[in-house]
Amino acid sequence: MYNREINIKEVPKHIAIVMDGNGRWAKRQGFDRIFGHTNGINTVRQITEASVEIGLKYLTLYTFSTENWNRPQEEIHGIMNLLVENIEKETDSFRKNNVRLLAIGDLWRLPDDVRIKLQRCIADTSKNTGLSLVLALSYSSRWEITNAVKDIVESINKGTLRQEDITEKTISEYLTTQNMPDPDIVIRTGGDIRISNFLLWQSAYSEFFFTKTYWPEFTKDEFFEIIYEFQNRERRFGKTSEQIKSTKN
Ligand code: IPE
Ligand code: IPE
Ligand code: MG
Repeated sequence: MYNREINIKEVPKHIAIVMDGNGRWAKRQGFDRIFGHTNGINTVRQITEASVEIGLKYLTLYTFSTENWNRPQEEIHGIMNLLVENIEKETDSFRKNNVRLLAIGDLWRLPDDVRIKLQRCIADTSKNTGLSLVLALSYSSRWEITNAVKDIVESINKGTLRQEDITEKTISEYLTTQNMPDPDIVIRTGGDIRISNFLLWQSAYSEFFFTKTYWPEFTKDEFFEIIYEFQNRERRFGKTSEQIKSTKN
């Protein structure tokens, strides 16, 4: 339904999603939190398919944050098991749909089996040219920015970068998202209105959408509805509305 309303010629390049609400969705029905994460995977599949359908170039999914390492061991274990089970399983459909898998975050903190399966899938899909599906795993923006600062200092010390040459572009290039466009849209499901350490630098001019829908209940229709609304917002980037309108005509 909403697909028809979307202007397919002006699809955003990059949509980033904070997939929140799995635990509450499960608990509401009397199940344990892992049941919510398991069902969240169906939504990942649907939203990935929808992204392929409209020709989106980048879909970044906040899958596990640096702070999530502080959750009960049992839940962390459950999430890691789901990753191991599903990354391999999806590789075929990534191939079929021309999807390239990428991952950003402190991947060395992941259990070996998760990291190995992830790296294998990334390698197997690296030549695909359609959607880039980016999993933010063991990711947080402050972790990323801290690392970028360390790497910049190292480059200066080595003499490969001069302090006076540092620009905003330099900083973007030292982040884990180095070759990606900034997100046009950031969506958070689950009802909370906060960013939780996600893409702080990159979302400087993103359009934000917060929905009360828990992630396992988020649908392709709601996703398209957000894109439709995005296409009807005016992005001014500091300019006036009149300036924007005069460059459009
Ligand atoms: C988001 O759902 C998924 C992860 C953080 C791994 P939550 O697990 O945070 O679900 P709620 O917010 O407790 O409902
Ligand atoms: C954010 O969700 C991280 C992911 C969706 C992976 P959380 O549920 O961890 O966020 P907070 O801590 O409640 O803000
Ligand atoms: Mg949550």
